[in-house]
Amino acid sequence: MFTLAHLSDWHLASRPALSELIGKRGLGYINWHRARKKIHRPDVLDLTIRDLKASAPDHIAVTGDLVNLSLPDEYNRARGWLQTLGLPRDVTLVPGNHDIYVRRVLQTPAAYWADYMRGDDGIDRFPFLRRRGNIALIGLSTALPTAPLLATGRLGKPQLARLLEILDQTRGSFRIVLIHHPPLTQRYLRRLVDAADLRGVLADQGAELLLHGHDHHRAVVWLDGPQKKIPAVGVPSASARGKHGDENPAGYNLFRIDGALGKWSCEMIARERGADGTMREVERQMLI
Ligand SMILES: [Fe+2]
Repeated sequence: MFTLAHLSDWHLASRPALSELIGKRGLGYINWHRARKKIHRPDVLDLTIRDLKASAPDHIAVTGDLVNLSLPDEYNRARGWLQTLGLPRDVTLVPGNHDIYVRRVLQTPAAYWADYMRGDDGIDRFPFLRRRGNIALIGLSTALPTAPLLATGRLGKPQLARLLEILDQTRGSFRIVLIHHPPLTQRYLRRLVDAADLRGVLADQGAELLLHGHDHHRAVVWLDGPQKKIPAVGVPSASARGKHGDENPAGYNLFRIDGALGKWSCEMIARERGADGTMREVERQMLI
C-alpha cells in the first residue's frame, strides 16, 4: 500500500513594496487585497498540513500556485512550507500560473524550489520522472506569464512529446501525472490552451491517475485512455477559509494505492475544513 497526499493552490502573499506593483502585479495586488487576502490564510494552511502529516503519507504532491504575485519573499516563505511538508525526495512539486506571474520571474521557481521539482535523473526539466517503488510520478509545467486577467497555461510540443515517451517507458507502474491546470474546463480565460493535445497523449498512452489544482474545488472527471478511463482529480486550495462568497473551504486528498499491473486499486479520501475550523473526511471513493 502506498499513500499519496495531494494539496495545491496556497496563494500566500507577502506585502509588496510600492515599486514592485507596476503592471500586472499592481492589478493582481488590488485583486488580492479585495478578495484573496481574506480567503487564503497561513493559519489554515498550517492546519491542513498538520492534518495531512498525521496520516503519514509515503509521498506528497503539490500542484502549484504556492505564491500570489511571484515576489521574492513569497517564494522564500513557500519554501518554508515545502520544508514543513518534507524533504525534496518525499515531496513533488509542479508550478502554477501564479508561480510565474510575470516574465521576469521565469527562472525564479527553480531558484527557490528546484530540488522539489527535479526528476530522479537530477536534470532540471519538465516533464520530470520520479519513481517510488511501482509508482511513477510525472511532473509537468503549464506555468507561463500571461496578460492581466488571463490565467491560462500551456504545455507546448516538447513537453507533450516527452510525456508520451515517459508514459510509454513507465507502462507497468502506477503512472500519476501531476499538472496545475485541469485537462478539461469550461473556463476559457483560465484554460490549458493545449489541453486537447494532452488528452490525446493520455488517450494514446494511458495513465493511472492525473492530479491537478487551479480550480480550487474538488472534482473527478474521467478522461479517455487506450483501454480504461483515467481519473483526473482536482483538489481545493489548501489555505482557503471557505467563508467568503462561493470559495470552497480548504481541503486535500489522500490516495491509497495498492496492487500491480492489471489489478491496481486506488481509493481517494477527501478531507476538508469544516465550519468549526477542524478537518474532517468528506468523501471516500474507489477510483480504480
Ligand atoms: Fe492557478
